[in-house]
Order: sequence, then C-alpha cells, then structure tokens
Amino acid sequence: KWKVDKFVDNLKSYPQIREAASLLKANEVVAFPTETVYGLGGNALSDEAIKKIYEAKGRPSDNPLIVHVSSVKQLDDLCSGLNEQAEELIKAFWPGPLTLILPSTGHVSEKVTAGLSTVAIRMPEDPIAKAVIEASGLPIAAPSANLSGRPSPTTAAHVLRDLDGRVAGVIDGGETGVGVESTVVDCTSKPITILRPGGITKEQLEAVIGEVGEDPALTGQDKAPKSPGMKYRHYAPAAPVYIVHGGMERIKEVLQQANNENKKTGVLTTDENKDGYPEADFVVACGRRSVPESVAHHLYQALREFDDTDVEIIFSESFPNEGIGAAIMNRLTKAAGGREL
Ligand code: TXA
Ligand code: MG
Repeated sequence: KWKVDKFVDNLKSYPQIREAASLLKANEVVAFPTETVYGLGGNALSDEAIKKIYEAKGRPSDNPLIVHVSSVKQLDDLCSGLNEQAEELIKAFWPGPLTLILPSTGHVSEKVTAGLSTVAIRMPEDPIAKAVIEASGLPIAAPSANLSGRPSPTTAAHVLRDLDGRVAGVIDGGETGVGVESTVVDCTSKPITILRPGGITKEQLEAVIGEVGEDPALTGQDKAPKSPGMKYRHYAPAAPVYIVHGGMERIKEVLQQANNENKKTGVLTTDENKDGYPEADFVVACGRRSVPESVAHHLYQALREFDDTDVEIIFSESFPNEGIGAAIMNRLTKAAGGREL
C-alpha cells in the first residue's frame, strides 16, 4: 500500500507511481483512485493481467471491463471509428466520469470485452489515475476495486477490506470525489443511449448532443440490459435493503412493524432527517438531501457501514430520479435487489 498526495507536481515521477506502473507492465494488478471510485487496474492488452482482475474480484467472466486511457491518441489503437457525437462527448466530458461504448479494433484482450465487438473506454480525471496510466504507457482495464457484488470502494481502506492479499498494490489517494461510477453510454446506437447512469447526468449529455436514449432495462422494462454488468445484484450490504417510498412517515411505519417482529433495524437517510428515526437501531446519514452530489459521494461508504452492525433489515429513503439522483436510485435499487415498499 502506498500513500500519495494527488495535489503534488509531476506525480508521474513519484516512486510509488513508478512502482505501480512497473507492476502493471509486468501484468500484475494494482488498485488506484479515480474521481468516481477506486479501480483495480491491469494491462488491457494482456490475457494474463485480465485473468488476475477477474480472479481477484470473483467477477463473472461475461461482464466486460472499462479500458482507461490518459490521452485521446490511445483511441486509435482501441476503437475503429468515432462518430461525430462521440467526438463531441469526448471534447465536453473527458477527462471525467463518462465511459463510451465504441466499436473495438480487437486489440485489447478478448477477456476485456467478454467477446463483444465493442469496447468501453474512459479517460479519468483523477491526477493519480492519470499519472499511473501515463507512466505505464498502456491502456489499463479497471473495474471497481471491490469484491464482485459488494459496494464499490471510495477509500483505500474499502479496497483493502475486500482485496487485501489478492492484489499487488493499492495506491491510497484519499476519498474519491464523485462517489458513484462513471456514466456508460452506447455510442454505437442512435440516439446515443445511457446503459448505466453515473457521474455525468442525462441532462448534461443532452445539453451537448441533444436527445439521449436510455436502455429500457433501466426503466424497469423486462429486458436484458445491454450492459452485461447491470443484470447483477450489486452494491449490497449483508442485510436486505428496502427502498421506501412515501417519506419519513412511511419509514416510521415499517420500522414499527419490524420492531414488532423483534428485528434489528437500520435506516439509510440524509443529514436533514437523521434525528427523525429514534425507533431504529442504527441510522446512517449519507450526505445532504438538498445537495444530491453529497449523497452520491457518501452512498457506498454508508452502505458498507451497515456491515459493521448487527442490523437484520435496512430501510432506505428514496431520492428524486433526476440529475445525479438517477445514479443514486440505480445503485440503491441494485443494492435492494429491487425490493421496494
Ligand atoms: O467509474 C467507473 O466507471 C469505474 C472506475 C474504476 O473507472 N469503473 C467501473 O467498472 O465501474 P466496472 O467494471 O465496475 O463497470 C463496468 C460497466 C459494467 O456494467 C459493464 O457491464 C459495462 O461497464 N461494460 C463494459 N464493457 C461494455 C461493453 N462493451 N458494452 C456494454 N457494457 C459494457
Ligand atoms: Mg463495479
């Protein structure tokens, strides 16, 4: 584990970054911060490295990985053709929390794309992520650095909790900023379609390229999602999570019921409401409801906190499904495995 201050000059020449880069060149896997969540990086061109990523995470091999780049020039080797809209998105949002699904040249390991003809690519903004990718000189495949199914890591401690002993190293750059993963958009469809809501909102995308579609699987229609990863239960604490609609009053009702059944209860709430549930055994506030970005920032940490308690059932407040709220509700719905009250 290496601690690195992301605000120093010339990060690329730091010994910790250089060591991480040499490990990546040797096809080892290394975790590092990005502006969204911590990623578990490996050489995207190497079957051996990609195999290690899947093994460390216990990830199903039909779930493809995002390739991380540090320059637009790297795209030449990775994707065969950018349409105009994809170019506009790159100009507007890279580096940043936006992943583009593009036609693949087939140069990355076929384990990265899980056999698909497309490849997912993003350029992260976090200075440490950028420095590591640049220093390695490679395209770096990096899923979130959690065990498959667990909430994604937003601190190095989360990474170690899940993956200690399974990875060659972890760069500790402090808490990640956005807190939820990048938005994944399919640039091979017309209009361009959101496959996974994330750090860049639908509204932001539409301001740049006009109409943007949404994978029907996202709006609950009974269809297989186009992004293979979206079909799994995910981000889940050990105790079952229920998303409760109808505000605090409704949560107090279901808490009462659970108390009558002698269940240890947890509530996922916000700063504004955190003192409103004296009947719950454990209350976690994840940021301010009036600042949804702060909820996104704290969400995974909050979900993880329940695992250090003995709660048997968790009730979560629900959030408006707009802006970054779309990503928050998508992750909560996954954590809840669709349970709603
Ligand atoms: O913010 C992020 O995107 C983080 C950081 C580390 O960059 N990474 C991340 O990776 O969230 P991961 O592996 O946890 O999620 C990748 C998502 C999955 O839902 C996967 O199915 C989808 O991207 N994906 C990857 N390649 C795809 C492709 N060719 N077509 C459709 N979906 C794809
Ligand atoms: Mg993930």
